[in-house]
Amino acid sequence: MTTRLAALLALALALPGAAIAQSKTEAEIKVKAGAEFFDANCHRCHSPTADKASYGPPLENVLGRTAGTYEDYEYSEALAGSGIVWTDAALRAWMEDNDGFMPGTKMRHVGVEDRTVQELILAYLHSLSAAN
Ligand code: HEC
Repeated sequence: MTTRLAALLALALALPGAAIAQSKTEAEIKVKAGAEFFDANCHRCHSPTADKASYGPPLENVLGRTAGTYEDYEYSEALAGSGIVWTDAALRAWMEDNDGFMPGTKMRHVGVEDRTVQELILAYLHSLSAAN
């Protein structure tokens, strides 16, 4: 575990409600911390539920989904025609440098480079996916 992650987990445990945190698994704490990073970096353009698209497509069930296939969303040609499947590795590469990973995407550069933050956001995305 990286020092940064350990610090985050310590922070999560110190938050109000820490009494119940004792019964939480590390996985649950990671999902909670990931939700915070999702809120800070992704939420303004992405809904975590499938009911509505915002500026970007919803990210519920994104794990294992073929890129560009949420029905009611108008994707860039680059993303719609890419044929890639959203695995952990693909999502890491996307968060780190989406427009480098897929030139022509209309998602503007986000650039989440910190591996720990990527890992926490991934944990949160897994929690939104049936096949988690
Ligand atoms: C400024 C708005 C914006 C932000 C911030 C943003 N996105 Fe996006 N995202 C988009 C748009 C727009 C698309 C559609 C891109 C396209 O069609 O080329 C997209 C597409 C995606 C896709 C492809 C989904 C699919 O159905 O194939 C994933 C995965 C994704 N974003 C994840 C993230 C994550 C994770 C974050 C936070 C780290 C994030 N995005 C932050 C706007 C954004």
